[in-house]
Amino acid sequence: MTKNIAIGVDIGGTGIKAAPVNLKNGKFTDDRYRIPTPQPSTPDAIARTVAKVIAKFNPSKKVPIGVAFPGVVQHGIVKTAANVDDSWIGTDLRAIIRDYAGHDVHVLNDADAAGYGEYKFGAANGRSGSIFMTTLGTGIGTAMIVDGTLVPNLELGHLIIDGHDAEDRAAESARDRYGYDWDQWIEQLQTYYSEIERLFWPDLFIVGGGVSKSHHMFLPKLRLRAPIVPAELLNGAGIVGAAAAAAAEAKREREEEKAAEKASKKQEKAAEKASSKA
Ligand code: BGC
Repeated sequence: MTKNIAIGVDIGGTGIKAAPVNLKNGKFTDDRYRIPTPQPSTPDAIARTVAKVIAKFNPSKKVPIGVAFPGVVQHGIVKTAANVDDSWIGTDLRAIIRDYAGHDVHVLNDADAAGYGEYKFGAANGRSGSIFMTTLGTGIGTAMIVDGTLVPNLELGHLIIDGHDAEDRAAESARDRYGYDWDQWIEQLQTYYSEIERLFWPDLFIVGGGVSKSHHMFLPKLRLRAPIVPAELLNGAGIVGAAAAAAAEAKREREEEKAAEKASKKQEKAAEKASSKA
């Protein structure tokens, strides 16, 4: 695997997907590989599957790998697990994937990854202002990017609207759960996005998740002040964003190491100077 490539892994409620991503243009350099999410979706079962999807691409130790998780991930630790097994809460995601995959990984929330992917390579490419990313899948993932800065772990899929957790009614999974036809689901989406708009006033909404492939069926019917557009990377936004975030993190680490080396050399020199004077 060559330079400028990173691997993105997206852990979802129904599938675990991965692909190598060209960091220059955000395109997959190989076919996406998907394995259904094991049930129960415990940490060991998922980490084993993540290791399998990574191994498919046989990356060298130098290739950055990003793993997107469908819950709050704070400093590498999983804090919520609405759509995977509860035993995830408190798990060190980074460590468990490292144990199974034998590779260091960067970890983040799945909607954050999708938002970052769309900001780097998709519908929000380089845009300033406030961008509100939503992913409609098993749950509703949300991310906000303000003038290029991602606000991590925004959990607005769980906004309480009319006494209900919003994702229960407006996620894609709600269509099956309640047998909604398009119009019924669109009504739920309208309520949801109107509430987000009332509270956050974004400049642009982006909609990702599997159902974004059928965006023409619902997006034109939503009435909002801000434009609402499908994710350009469609369902791949999480993979692309996870890969790009991992590469950015690897770069930051390299720069920090260099700066620390430089500082310690400077200190050594100063110490030598001081001792030669003494
Ligand atoms: C979780 C979020 C996640 C979203 C999409 C929600 O239930 O709380 O963290 O981003 O689902 O997977």
